Amino acid sequence: MQIKIKSLHYRYPETNFSLDIPDLTLSPGLICLVGQNGSGKSTLLKLLADLLPAGDAIKADGQTLSEYLASGRLSKIAYAFQDPNDQLFNSSVEKELAWSMKQAKLPEDEIARRTEAALKEFGLAEFRDLNPYDLSLSGKKLLTIASALVLDPEVCLLDEPLMSLDYPGRCLVTRLLEKRLAQGKTVIMITHDMDWLAENCQEVYAMSQGHLVYHGPVHQLFSDQELLDRLGLLPAKTWQLSQLLGLKPEVLSLK
Ligand SMILES: Nc1ncnc2c1ncn2[C@@H]1O[C@H](COP(=O)(O)OP(=O)(O)O)[C@@H](O)[C@H]1O
Ligand SMILES: [Mg+2]
Repeated sequence: MQIKIKSLHYRYPETNFSLDIPDLTLSPGLICLVGQNGSGKSTLLKLLADLLPAGDAIKADGQTLSEYLASGRLSKIAYAFQDPNDQLFNSSVEKELAWSMKQAKLPEDEIARRTEAALKEFGLAEFRDLNPYDLSLSGKKLLTIASALVLDPEVCLLDEPLMSLDYPGRCLVTRLLEKRLAQGKTVIMITHDMDWLAENCQEVYAMSQGHLVYHGPVHQLFSDQELLDRLGLLPAKTWQLSQLLGLKPEVLSLK
């Protein structure tokens, strides 16, 4: 599935912030979005999720987003919010996981099977009857990601999925994303984690003040000090260490 953006312009009513993306094509694979707070990353993700109106500026396989999503919206594009409190609303962890599958009218036995599998995979089984608001922040974050992945969507839009996760949680999410990518699906995610980026991502997009200001390999972004300063980014620790040691080519990953 290919997403094409042409002349995308969005402004929140009564604010000075505007997002402008003249031309962009996103093909299946991992797409990481970085940039300072307030640069417009979440706004772009919400536009891609059809949570904010993009008119016909965003096309998916040649159709406008609303045409593309008209049949089976939830199994095509799933979205996990930056702040889990904006997403979670059911009275139990189990109901939260099942909700999108119910909306998608999956058979009851399939909903039960997938819910059990997700509870187990995300380490949430013991919290199944708990109100999602009573989970820890990392538990909430995992639940929002699980709820997005449970419908096995073509495109996954994840807003800072690694935020507040502990090490096992990060490993779990990384492994599940790798699995999706191996199936030829699309993952578009926002992250501030340069170490994760260096280890896991080939190409990165950077945003500043509502504009895409960089698209290219991670190592090229880390080599451009002027751009890093403008974006307020500190390169991955592996990269910093190779700079100190004078290694060429610089090390991005310890894998
Ligand atoms: N619902 C909203 N109404 C008005 N302004 C908003 C809203 N959401 C975000 N903004 C503003 O839009 C700008 C970009 O925000 P956002 O897309 O959340 O940036 P980022 O995710 O990169 O931190 C910020 O100036 C923010 O204050
Ligand atoms: Mg954001």
